[in-house]
Amino acid sequence: MTSFSTRLTVFYALSFILASVGMLTLGYRQIDQKLMHGLDRLLLTERGRVFAHLALGPPGNTPADLGAKLRRSTDNSAVLFRVEIKSRDGASLFRSSNLSQPLPWSPPSPQFTDDTLSDGARVRIGRFDRGDLVIMVATPADNVASAMRGYVETSIGLLLAMAAFGIAIGYALSQVVLKPLREIADTAARISASNLEERIPVQRGDEVGDLARLLNAMLDRIGSSFRQIRQFTADASHELKTPLSLVRLHAEMILADPGLTTSQENAVVAQLEEVDRLSALVGDLLVLARADSNSMNLAIASHDPADFLERMRADVEVLAEAAKVKVRFIREGDGLVSFDPRWMRHIVLNLLNNAFRASPVGGTVTIASRLDAAGWQLAVEDEGAGVPHELLSRIFDRFVSDAPGGTGLGLTISRSIVELHGGTIVAMPGRDGRGLRVELALPPAAT
Ligand SMILES: Nc1ncnc2c1ncn2[C@@H]1O[C@H](COP(=O)(O)OP(=O)(O)O)[C@@H](O)[C@H]1O
Ligand SMILES: [Mg+2]
Repeated sequence: MTSFSTRLTVFYALSFILASVGMLTLGYRQIDQKLMHGLDRLLLTERGRVFAHLALGPPGNTPADLGAKLRRSTDNSAVLFRVEIKSRDGASLFRSSNLSQPLPWSPPSPQFTDDTLSDGARVRIGRFDRGDLVIMVATPADNVASAMRGYVETSIGLLLAMAAFGIAIGYALSQVVLKPLREIADTAARISASNLEERIPVQRGDEVGDLARLLNAMLDRIGSSFRQIRQFTADASHELKTPLSLVRLHAEMILADPGLTTSQENAVVAQLEEVDRLSALVGDLLVLARADSNSMNLAIASHDPADFLERMRADVEVLAEAAKVKVRFIREGDGLVSFDPRWMRHIVLNLLNNAFRASPVGGTVTIASRLDAAGWQLAVEDEGAGVPHELLSRIFDRFVSDAPGGTGLGLTISRSIVELHGGTIVAMPGRDGRGLRVELALPPAAT
């Protein structure tokens, strides 16, 4: 792919070069014509002199007569002119002393032609009729030829310089033209659902400024839609909580009734399960809506991750036992990290929940914590079936779940909260190719 700036540069440089070629060619033709015209005027002057000498002296046109009339005059002007007189049928009647060969003879011919003589001299030849005679006068055109050669050489040098210049100017121009567009692209690339507040700087009143204003107006609209959706999700989840707990309460009261038949009891138990699932979903949605709109009020403070994990240990072991899975804690390094321990606990339990669920009975789940200058890296790895490669990037999306009773929001919430902490969370296949490894990284505490 050739970039827009490359195309702009090439286009500009080409136009520049073409214009230069055109101008230089035109110049070449003009100068050549001017110089030739000068030579022709010289030839005409010499013609006048020859005619004048022919009119003097004996009236005959024999070679001897012509010699008598012209020899001295042509010898005098031998540096500039070579003169030959022919009869109409081409027979040479007189030749000036500086002419060893006849001049090229090609009637009917234009009055002036360029020719190269047998001795290599480049000449301009004029042919003039006078009665039965044809007077031919040649004058050296070498100067003109070498002047034109010089012109061409200079032109080629000039063209190369122009080409370099054109490319440089074209490139500079493309950078200037594209700079505002780059700024727009950079800002647009930074804007995502989590920082919809950022706007493209509008610095000018031109077309690019209009584009920036249009994009900003679009972002305003998108931003307000986003806020509405989040607000709606938060409101709806919140409003659903109370009726759900009431439904649960009523179902529990019915269950306490000793007069229930077994099938009625089963139905109510199933109903309770569904209500629990719905409550979990509503709770998760509320968390997610708050996390996305940045209104979670996280209690972020400096903590020692080793203490934090130690405090979770007892609970984790109970959960592992219930899931018939072994847990292994690995800890490296020490230091402090900024996080909200309540929400971090939520995330770790979430990851462990998934890991326990995926583990085979008796399998081991590893919780590895490492602290170094880069911050805190926490990895949870199991020995389960793992996640197919094409699904790895999607398990953090909302509602992606293959677990019975799962909401598919656990990892989504985990990622949102980790990102609110300025950290990252990624999933990959386990170290020895099986199972899943989820790695969470938080930056070190600011000191
Ligand atoms: N440790 C794991 N091993 C295999 N699959 C996993 C693991 N953790 C997550 N997944 C996959 O990612 C999906 C999404 O997980 P999550 O967001 O926690 O939602 P949920 O647990 O409600 O299904 C799970 O349904 C499962 O398919
Ligand atoms: Mg989960």
